[in-house]
Amino acid sequence: MFAARAKEVVASCRLLAGFSEESGRTTRRFLSPPMRDVHAHLGAWMQRCGMSVHVDNAGNLRGMYPASVPDGPSVFIGSHLDTVIDAGAFDGVLGVVLAIALVDVLQNRHLPFAIEVVGFSEEEGVRFGVPFIGSRALAGTLDADVLRRVDAHGRSIEEAIRDFGLDPSCVFNARAGNRALGYLEFHIEQGPVLDGLAVPLGIVTSIVGQSRLTATFIGSANHAGTTPMQTRQDAVAGAAEWISAVETHARGTPGLVATVGRILALPGSTNVVAGRCEASLDVRHASDETRAAAVATLLDTARQIASRRRLSVQFDTHLDQPSVPMSSALVTTLERAVAAQGIRPHRIDSGAGHDAMIMAACMPAAMLFLRSPRGISHNPDETVVEEDVAAALGAGLAFLDDLAASHA
Ligand code: HGY
Ligand code: MN
Ligand code: MN
Repeated sequence: MFAARAKEVVASCRLLAGFSEESGRTTRRFLSPPMRDVHAHLGAWMQRCGMSVHVDNAGNLRGMYPASVPDGPSVFIGSHLDTVIDAGAFDGVLGVVLAIALVDVLQNRHLPFAIEVVGFSEEEGVRFGVPFIGSRALAGTLDADVLRRVDAHGRSIEEAIRDFGLDPSCVFNARAGNRALGYLEFHIEQGPVLDGLAVPLGIVTSIVGQSRLTATFIGSANHAGTTPMQTRQDAVAGAAEWISAVETHARGTPGLVATVGRILALPGSTNVVAGRCEASLDVRHASDETRAAAVATLLDTARQIASRRRLSVQFDTHLDQPSVPMSSALVTTLERAVAAQGIRPHRIDSGAGHDAMIMAACMPAAMLFLRSPRGISHNPDETVVEEDVAAALGAGLAFLDDLAASHA
């Protein structure tokens, strides 16, 4: 029924992947110049579907499709428009394109609630090291001091908002009204579960918690040729020992994942023993207690390695996000909607973080996963199956009609 629409959705995501800070690969960070082109491209489509469109002061692209009744409540549907570095074409943006396509499919049929489509400005946390800036502004959980965080060029979030032509003093006006029925996010699974089960769609029951921090090992820079191995205070060697300890601990703890995705060796010359090494740490687990215990263990291990190597080590915590259950009522509604497509509903926990975990603070939230072929994501080979996109559209429409029937 939606095969042609699904083809359009996939083509749109692949087109938008070209809106990038870098030629030849997809990188689109918070309020970077290509984000303006994404807003223009999607905003024009939103207007053609009968939505009023604006960009709020947190940089979120907002489209409002009115209710059939005055002062009706709202259903929010969205995801994020920013990407990781060298990203795939579907993480985040698929959820926004599917939301617009869903409104398009309504073909001027209005429901007893407004549909608010949101393209969040920053979910990945690449530019400033903190994720969820856009959804926190909408959920009303953005704390003011975050606005002072700076990027690699010393530009603060506040300045980045101003550079984009928005007003940082009004960032808190982005907040969603309190007449929200709920939030729905379509997203690729980004993992191997649905593909392994040959299941096209998954209904998310909860999103695991995550800790993000930086461990900085400090030794003393010295000459690579003249400094005896026994007297070195090598920050990179210390970090390297810790990084393999992180992997060993995660491998030995059921359900735990721990990742060091970025390291920075300073001063960074090949003939200098590094005096400083910054290592990122991302720790996730469905249980907040297990995650907290793992972080504590890994920090202790870093301290022991540092003291044995006559280094010092310091930690900066960027995120301590508890795991979040999705709305059980909306999960049930989604299951009915998926079953109506002739697909066996499959419940799944999300190992990836999503804006839905932030939106759940202010309204019932639900997520519908689309299968990730070969479980690949955060990688240019990330893709979707067109038939799954068509099924997701059908399920999305059935979800809205189900909500409309219960709010008629
Ligand atoms: O890192 C994550 O979990 C998500 O892809 N931002
Ligand atoms: Mn991502
Ligand atoms: Mn994502």
